[in-house]
Amino acid sequence: MNIKIFEKQTDLDHYAADLIVETVKQKDRPVLGLATGSTPIGIYKSMVEKYRSGEVSFRSVTTYNLDEYVGLPSGHEQTYAYYMQDNLFQHIDIPAAQTFLPNGMASDLQSECRRYDDMLAKQPVDLQLLGLGHNGHIGFNEPSDVLTSGTHVAPLKESTRLANARFFNHLEEVPKQAITMGVGSILKAKTILLAVRGADKAAIVREALTGPITTECPASLLQTHANVIVLLDQDAGKELIANDPTLFMAHQ
Ligand code: F6R
Repeated sequence: MNIKIFEKQTDLDHYAADLIVETVKQKDRPVLGLATGSTPIGIYKSMVEKYRSGEVSFRSVTTYNLDEYVGLPSGHEQTYAYYMQDNLFQHIDIPAAQTFLPNGMASDLQSECRRYDDMLAKQPVDLQLLGLGHNGHIGFNEPSDVLTSGTHVAPLKESTRLANARFFNHLEEVPKQAITMGVGSILKAKTILLAVRGADKAAIVREALTGPITTECPASLLQTHANVIVLLDQDAGKELIANDPTLFMAHQ
């Protein structure tokens, strides 16, 4: 694993956006795997700045998001589809027909999962952006004694619903299920970019990156992938820095 720890959050954002833009420029038909949550917001902002400055066009890019809540109607402000429009898609030149998320309102959720996997099989992800849950989840693959490889309907842990309740008026409004790419789908990406911020994630970062590979910490399976780049702010990386101070590389 290639681990980089940044002094400033904006440095992390620019570095991640540079890697994404580099992938877009290198490929004829680049495929990006995207995430939602608070972590990628600054990264998307930096991608938008690079688009506005003329550094990159997203016209040939296809995107697949990791996940979507089940049961939130289209246009609901907490759908991940809304988030993606709001934070990225509406600000760049990517054609809407090339942006995909699982449909959490599908009448047949199982066939929606198969449809998503079929599309991913035809368009393998070049670069997958990931955040990390406090419990080690990636996408909505929650800690468990078994994990599912492909796209599936996942029940959300109470701890995850509580963590996401900050975006809703009440905890009861937070959906109890999501459709998520499985760990197998995520690990098929050619390159994985894991971005993590904040002291509250320092322990899970250490566990995921240096602890045992176990389904009880889904992110630990990233240790089996040959091309993972981990971008951490100082707070998220502090337990790793304590063990290996050379990991810290400040980008001024
Ligand atoms: C989002 C996703 C989640 C988040 C994770 C971290 O699409 O799949 O796994 O990446 O919950 O969320 P934040 O960045 O809000 O801490």
